[in-house]
Amino acid sequence: MRVAIASDHAGFIQKQPMIDYMTGLGYEVIDLGPENDDRVDYPDFGEKVGRYVAAGNADRGVCICGTGIGIAVAAGKIPGIRASSITSPEFAALFRQHNDGNVIGLSGRFVDLEVNEEIVKTFLTTDFEGGRHAGRVEKINALD
Ligand code: RB5
Repeated sequence: MRVAIASDHAGFIQKQPMIDYMTGLGYEVIDLGPENDDRVDYPDFGEKVGRYVAAGNADRGVCICGTGIGIAVAAGKIPGIRASSITSPEFAALFRQHNDGNVIGLSGRFVDLEVNEEIVKTFLTTDFEGGRHAGRVEKINALD
């Protein structure tokens, strides 16, 4: 599985450790920036991940900003992307099982790296349940 990742300056501190973590789990990780913690605008990096995943260049996307909220909102504006801020492994599982989420936003300021690693592992290993959820996700997709 290929995973695209990006952050803003507030999420940058967790980006490289998260790349190392996912690589260690056997995933192919594509780093879409930034290259340092200079101040940047999170919508630019949420858009990069969203467009990369929507184009089929990666299967999932991981975005990190201060809260995980703004960068996920930006990624979710790209057609084909179902993105959300996620702050617990339980929500990561439900986001996959019920919403077929393909991009998550993580908080680099309010959630420890170890918790974010568990969130990412759950996000990458949990399947969409389909069934009664399939029609609901189709309705979300129809809003693109
Ligand atoms: C940057 O200060 C901060 O606003 C950003 O990282 C993020 O938390 C926005 O949702």
